[in-house]
Amino acid sequence: MSQVVYVNEKSGVDSTEVKGTEQQPFATPAYALFTYPDSKIYVFKQSEGEEQQEGYLEISASALKKAKKGAEGIKKKIEKQIKLDEQKKQKAEEASLKLAELDLIKIEEDKSLPIAKKIKLRTMQDNLETRVAVQGWIHRLRVQKGLAFITLRDGTGFIQAVLTGDLAKAKQTQELTIESTVIIKGVISKLPEGKTAPGGVELKADYYEVVGLSPGGDDAFTNKVQENADPSLLLDQRHLTLRGETLSAVMKVRATLLKAIRRFFEEEGLLEVTPPCMVQTQVEGGSTLFKMDYYGEEAYLTQSSQLYLETCLPALGDVYCVQESFRAEKSHTRRHLSEYTHIESELAFIEFDDLLSHLERLITKTVSYVLEDPVAGPLIKQLNPDFKPPQMPFKRMEYIDALEWLNEHGIPNEDGEPFKFGDDIAEAAERKMTDTINQPILLIRFPVEIKSFYMQKCKDDPRVTESVDVLMPNVGEITGGSMRTYDYEELIAAIKREKLDLESYYWFTDQRKYGTCPHGGYGLGTERILAWLCDRFTVRDCSLYPRFTGRCKP
Ligand code: 4AD
Repeated sequence: MSQVVYVNEKSGVDSTEVKGTEQQPFATPAYALFTYPDSKIYVFKQSEGEEQQEGYLEISASALKKAKKGAEGIKKKIEKQIKLDEQKKQKAEEASLKLAELDLIKIEEDKSLPIAKKIKLRTMQDNLETRVAVQGWIHRLRVQKGLAFITLRDGTGFIQAVLTGDLAKAKQTQELTIESTVIIKGVISKLPEGKTAPGGVELKADYYEVVGLSPGGDDAFTNKVQENADPSLLLDQRHLTLRGETLSAVMKVRATLLKAIRRFFEEEGLLEVTPPCMVQTQVEGGSTLFKMDYYGEEAYLTQSSQLYLETCLPALGDVYCVQESFRAEKSHTRRHLSEYTHIESELAFIEFDDLLSHLERLITKTVSYVLEDPVAGPLIKQLNPDFKPPQMPFKRMEYIDALEWLNEHGIPNEDGEPFKFGDDIAEAAERKMTDTINQPILLIRFPVEIKSFYMQKCKDDPRVTESVDVLMPNVGEITGGSMRTYDYEELIAAIKREKLDLESYYWFTDQRKYGTCPHGGYGLGTERILAWLCDRFTVRDCSLYPRFTGRCKP
């Protein structure tokens, strides 16, 4: 006799655990039949008549037919699931086998190959078709099946390395990350027409080693430095953002600019000196002084090395320095830093006009040297495609004429009124004028009261000074300079007028006492000229680790 199996749609459960007894019924006839194919099915029924009766009744023929179909379906479904589970298991086994296999792929150097010559990437074009070893950081990475592309960076250049065969398959390659350091050995060849990579070459790797593996996952480099992140977050990660193509390009142009400046000074016969940064005299007004305690005495971080350069003239002739200057600027402008690299020079026995033409030569020649440079030239093209080198002579404009220009163009002074003699031309107005005129301007002859105490008054108009600001489109002032008051009494009067402590300037005023001479000089802000040259929005992008209000780290 066939087994009796019970089904109760309300209280039953379809499960392999269930026995199909009266106490433990299934929920559906289909599942009951699937579990016990030849059984007799009894289904719990509740009659709906007046006298409520309930109990198990044998399944009807039509319901049995339906249940048989259902049981078939369940069987198929379960068989399919078993098959899928088996496939999954097999795949996992294969993958772990593969990984174990990859682990077995040992990257070994073929000792029969010629010894690789260690090179820096800047010389890659001179080392084609010989076995080389390049070392650097993984700038970009693409790992495919049996093929991996690494763009390597070593600070002097970029190269694309191609890894094939076991080199590409090895676990070591599968686990590589951006910014890891590696040594890659192989042969550099020119790329065929139509293929592109840095320098038009490619390094076919025959061996490589990992020197330092960078983290992946949450701590990955790309998570720390995200291109569109908040500027202040990026500044916190400056040590990492420096590795980026734009910032490193600006730093390379910066190095070339300083080299070009030194070349120009050498050609003009100026000698480099290194004045102190810790001083006890101010140059450019008390409001921007960084004060410090110097063994119990008050001292400052230098605002400008000008006064020291002046003292060098009798000993060394014309001099220059490339020195950090410090300004406690409270304002957050895009062209002010608290610490900047100040290029200053001082020239003896010159007239105001000599100073102006020296400045024109300085800027045009330096820029042309930078543009000629094989590294910096192309970088400027990349950073500032529309850059046009300035031509001599520069437009010369007197302060008084600038006021007229500003008033004619409806640009008001800081009080919102038309400019009048003696007004400072603040940053915004100066920028508007410079950007509109859109060429370098030598803005000259500023009034005595808005300029520093040491400036020589004009012989033809003692209300104004022999002073100059060099203004460039997009940045504004990049240089400030002047002829210096060289008459002893006049200088003393100016120091007194500014209420400076005369005694602490004894070493400076002595220059007018022991053999004075007409002389002049200027200061050029490295980050300002770079912002102009590289078309950067702010000078902060032109400094290695910019310092400004609220930022002195990292
Ligand atoms: O016009 P400044 O204040 O002139 C002097 O310090 C003179 N003693 C220089 C000299 O004649 N030897 O500054 C000169 C230049 C400015 O034109 C500007 O390029 C730069 O220094 N500069 C700054 N750059 C960045 N951040 C700041 N806070 C700057 N202040 C001045």
